[in-house]
Amino acid sequence: MSFRGVFDEESLSLSELIPKVLLMAVLEASAVTKRYRMGEVTVEALDNVSFTVQKGNFVAVMGPSGSGKSTLLHLLGGLDEPTSGEITLAGRPISRLSDDEVTLVRRRKVGFIFQFFNLVPTLTAAENVALPLLIDGQNIKQHEAKIAHLLELVGLQGRAHHKPDQLSGGQQQRVAIARAFVNDPEIVLADEPTGNLDSKSGTAVLELLARFCTELGQTIVMVTHDPRAASFAKEVVFLKDGHIIRTLPIGQRNGHEEDIRDIMRVMRELEL
Ligand SMILES: Nc1ncnc2c1ncn2[C@@H]1O[C@H](COP(=O)(O)OP(=O)(O)OP(=O)(O)O)[C@@H](O)[C@H]1O
Ligand SMILES: [Mg+2]
Repeated sequence: MSFRGVFDEESLSLSELIPKVLLMAVLEASAVTKRYRMGEVTVEALDNVSFTVQKGNFVAVMGPSGSGKSTLLHLLGGLDEPTSGEITLAGRPISRLSDDEVTLVRRRKVGFIFQFFNLVPTLTAAENVALPLLIDGQNIKQHEAKIAHLLELVGLQGRAHHKPDQLSGGQQQRVAIARAFVNDPEIVLADEPTGNLDSKSGTAVLELLARFCTELGQTIVMVTHDPRAASFAKEVVFLKDGHIIRTLPIGQRNGHEEDIRDIMRVMRELEL
C-alpha cells in the first residue's frame, strides 16, 4: 500500500486510519528479477521475488550460499538496480528514480550494517557514527547529543574517541550499528552482521538490533546463515535459487531455543 493510497481515502475516520498507517509497508519488492550477464553466461540471482516489510518488523533472510540474499539486500537498499520489477522504499519507487534521487533516498532513509563493519580507520567511534550526517552535509555540532546517546545505547559511552583499531570486533560492529541508526532511517539493512563475531559479541549485537526494533519501532532486514541469529527476528524469509520459498513467523514466545528448532526444521524440510 502506498502513502498515496492511504491518505487519499478522505472518508476514513482517524480511528480507521491509524491502524492502516501502523500497518504500512516500509518496503515493497514486486516481481523483482536480477540477472547478471557474464559474457556468455547469465546468472539469475533473483527470479520474480515479491516481498513486503511492514513498519517495525524485524525480518531475517536465510538461504544457502549463492541463493541471492546479498543481491536482494543490495536491491532493497538501492545499491544496485533490478533487471525487472519494482522496489518501493518509504513510499518512493526507487527502481524508477534517477541515480541522484536514489542516492538521496539511500542516505536519508536507509541504514546499512555489513559483515566487515566498514568503519573509516582514521576516524574515532563518534566520528564514524556521525559520518552519514556529514555526507548529507549536516552540521555535526547540532547532533552531538544524539551521537552520544547512540553510543550509550550500544554500550560504548566510554569509547567515543577510540579509533577502530583500538576497539574489539564486537565493539566495532556496535559502532556500525549506531552509525546505521544515526539518520533515523526508515529501514536498516544488515548483511551477516554477526558473521565475523564470536558468539558472545554476536549475541550482544543481535540483542541490540532486537531492542532497536521492539523499543524504538525500527524496521530491520537482516541476512544471516545462522538459525540462532535468525531467531532474534520476528519473521524468517527463506531464499533458494533466487526464489522466496517460505516465510516463517517466529516470536520467541517460548524462548530462542524453540524458534531455533522451528527454523532448523523448516531448513531440513526445504533442503537448505
Ligand atoms: N556482481 C555480480 N556479477 C555476477 N554474478 C553475481 C554478482 N553478484 C552475485 N552474483 C551471483 O548471483 C548469485 C547470488 O549471489 P549473492 O551474493 O546474492 O548470494 P548470497 O545468497 O548472498 O550468498 P552468500 O551466502 O555466499 O553470501 C550467485 O550465483 C552469484 O555468483
Ligand atoms: Mg551474501
